[in-house]
Amino acid sequence: MNEVTPVTEAPKPDAQKTDAPKIKPVPTLPDAQTVTEVKHYTDRLFSFRCTRPATMRFRSGEFVMIGLMGDNGKPLLRAYSIASPSWDEELEFYSIKVQDGPLTSKLQHIQPGDEIILRPKPVGTLVHDALLPGKRLWFFATGTGFAPFASLLREPQTYEDYDEVIITHTCREVGELTYGRELIESLKTDELLHELMGPDFHKKIRYYPTTTREESPKMGRITDLMRSGECFADLGVPVLNKDTDRAMVCGNLAFNLEIKEMLEGYGLEEGANSDPKHYVVEKAFLD
Ligand SMILES: Cc1cc2nc3c(=O)[nH]c(=O)nc-3n(C[C@H](O)[C@H](O)[C@H](O)COP(=O)(O)OP(=O)(O)OC[C@H]3O[C@@H](n4cnc5c(N)ncnc54)[C@H](O)[C@@H]3O)c2cc1C
Ligand SMILES: NC(=O)c1ccc[n+]([C@@H]2O[C@H](COP(=O)([O-])OP(=O)(O)OC[C@H]3O[C@@H](n4cnc5c(N)ncnc54)[C@H](OP(=O)(O)O)[C@@H]3O)[C@@H](O)[C@H]2O)c1
Repeated sequence: MNEVTPVTEAPKPDAQKTDAPKIKPVPTLPDAQTVTEVKHYTDRLFSFRCTRPATMRFRSGEFVMIGLMGDNGKPLLRAYSIASPSWDEELEFYSIKVQDGPLTSKLQHIQPGDEIILRPKPVGTLVHDALLPGKRLWFFATGTGFAPFASLLREPQTYEDYDEVIITHTCREVGELTYGRELIESLKTDELLHELMGPDFHKKIRYYPTTTREESPKMGRITDLMRSGECFADLGVPVLNKDTDRAMVCGNLAFNLEIKEMLEGYGLEEGANSDPKHYVVEKAFLD
């Protein structure tokens, strides 16, 4: 007599040999996403891509909490700007490697196929919604503060809303500019972006990289270069003013405070999601 298997019973090993639909493996981490690509730039910087939760929506420029399972069995999470644009089917992150950092001492060793934890609750102030309409959009970044702008530079709205997009990036060393430089260069040949925005959108971008501790074509902190007027002369644009200019800032705390004061001095006011104005600021890391 043939036995009838109750539907609630676990399938026998032989069942795997049939044409039955494959059962998805249970993720080994809560909110697990799979790493698809990793690129190292310096001994302190790398980027990686991972799968995107099917239901996760975000605005270009926002950040999420990501991490790994800690040795104590609890998730070890940190805030990370999403470096990919809202339309991308994967997610990209640009990361520091802090050798004794609880998370990045481990995260720097991830490989394609590994899993990371990603809490799909994006938030943040570096979003178009927090700015009033303007003509020229400035992105001011130091170090990994470039990450949210990697997202916004690939966001069609950035070019729809502004005639000109100026991205300044200040790092200590030349190698720390590579991720941003390559990303901006790649926009010229990105087929999908060209399809979405037409062939000339990248001509609106003005890239202004500077270094402070290694020789490069433009040396100095962006704040000093603005104060002296050198930055505006190099770019051939007037000093920022609230009628035409909008700004997004992402860097270390001292940089954020300094540039915030300068922007206020130019007459710009800080905006928020609920109260759009002329500029917005976010920390690239906590101290
Ligand atoms: C809103 C927000 C967004 C962030 N987005 C990013 C991002 O896109 N990419 C990223 O690499 N980090 C980002 N960070 C920082 C991130 O949350 C972690 O601090 C970083 O991953 C290091 O984690 P950790 O556990 O290894 O060391 P932590 O204990 O978190 O940090 C140890 C020390 O390392 C230094 N440090 C931390 N992060 C950085 C950094 N990014 N650049 C330079 N020095 C740093 C600080 O001095 C800090 O005290 C963000 C932080 C905030 C608040
Ligand atoms: N980058 C490295 O090679 C390196 C190596 C080992 C350890 N670390 C440590 O890692 C941490 C973060 O280093 P980081 O280089 O990633 O980030 P960072 O210290 O925030 O510096 C990034 C860039 O921002 C500039 N900057 C800092 N404060 C500024 C301000 N108020 N106004 C304008 N520009 C400002 C820096 O110029 P200045 O150079 O003039 O400060 C540098 O060019 C630090 O604690 C550092 O000691 C860094």
